[in-house]
Amino acid sequence: MNEQPPLIRWPVAGESRVPYSVFSREAFDEDEQRRIFLGKHWHFVCLEVEVAAPGDFKTTHIGKAPVVISRDFDGEIYGFENRCAHRGALICLENAGNARQFQCVYHAWSYDLQGTLTGVAFEKGVRGLGGMPPSFCKEEHGPRKLRVALLAGLVFASFADDVDPLDEYLGPEIVAKIERVLFKPLEVIGRFTQVLPNNWKLYAENARDTYHASLLHLFFTTFNITRLSQGGGVVISPSGGHHASASIKAPEEERGTDTAYAEQRSNQDGFRLHAPQMLDSEDEIGDGIRVQILTVFPGFVLQQIHNCIAVRQIVPTGAASMDLHWTLVGFADDSPRLREMRLMQANLVGPAGYVSMEDGAVGNFVQRGIAAAADHESVIELGGLESKSQDFRATEASIRGFWKAYRTAMEL
Ligand code: FES
Ligand SMILES: [Fe+2]
Repeated sequence: MNEQPPLIRWPVAGESRVPYSVFSREAFDEDEQRRIFLGKHWHFVCLEVEVAAPGDFKTTHIGKAPVVISRDFDGEIYGFENRCAHRGALICLENAGNARQFQCVYHAWSYDLQGTLTGVAFEKGVRGLGGMPPSFCKEEHGPRKLRVALLAGLVFASFADDVDPLDEYLGPEIVAKIERVLFKPLEVIGRFTQVLPNNWKLYAENARDTYHASLLHLFFTTFNITRLSQGGGVVISPSGGHHASASIKAPEEERGTDTAYAEQRSNQDGFRLHAPQMLDSEDEIGDGIRVQILTVFPGFVLQQIHNCIAVRQIVPTGAASMDLHWTLVGFADDSPRLREMRLMQANLVGPAGYVSMEDGAVGNFVQRGIAAAADHESVIELGGLESKSQDFRATEASIRGFWKAYRTAMEL
């Protein structure tokens, strides 16, 4: 056996140090594709409502692999690699649509909605000449098919046939936190893609980083949306890879309704919003949790910031680049008032969001900061050295959890 040498040696036991080379060395890219994106993991690919009717399809990526997600006429959702069995062209060029079948533009090989090769142009040749040899058998060719699993309106897919069932992969605590937010039929109310000039794992860290939220995002503290002094904590799956953080209204803020919130808006440094109704919200879930950020290893984020609910999909595009696809959702039965609130609060997120604008920049600050520091490492010790659930948020436990899952997947 030609054993490959390990890509790096992890500097210390545990996850409190992360070598910067993982964010810059191209060599990681290929290994991550194989072990993580094509490996035994589940990847969020779309919402069920995006492929609601038979024939509906959507194209997206799992890591670098282009994939098609479709609903066939049997009502089931299928997924397959968007790669023609002939010479590798994309089978489907659209972002989304409705189709009875797919046909590759290059030489017109065709596929059904499950990605099965059904037609080969001129298979029998022309007037008895040419064509495929008698040994050619369509059934032996086709793009790789995906396993698909559904949860609370989310569609996850995996290239691995032996991946654990989705609910086992996530664990009961994370499943419950997903169902807590996505508890009714969904509707897409907006979307954007943010092109980020940083390694995908820097964003995976950022989404798990309860430490920075009230420090980097001044909008949060100025308008009292989340502070580390508020109640809450982090739940981390046993694998480390998935987490959910929650911030709960502090008891002194419990003054009945969110109109109390309006009084606090201008407390800090005299800043005021010209349109304070932008922050109007209601506790629609009824448990007092104002902000819940949840991640699923490797690249999924579910966000509830007040009534602003969104899913984010991390798609690596190179060692130092990634796309972040946001889909904002509401419920199909939203009242006009609630829908309006969601859309107003959506100003917080996305490429120019009052909050996530900084997350779009800070990954690149790291990428640039570590440009010549492949032999150095980050320090991730806030809240201790472990990556277990904690009932406070001044911690980096969920980031250590991500690296625990990463090391397991990459055998580092
Ligand atoms: S590459 Fe698709 S038909 Fe030739
Ligand atoms: Fe952030």
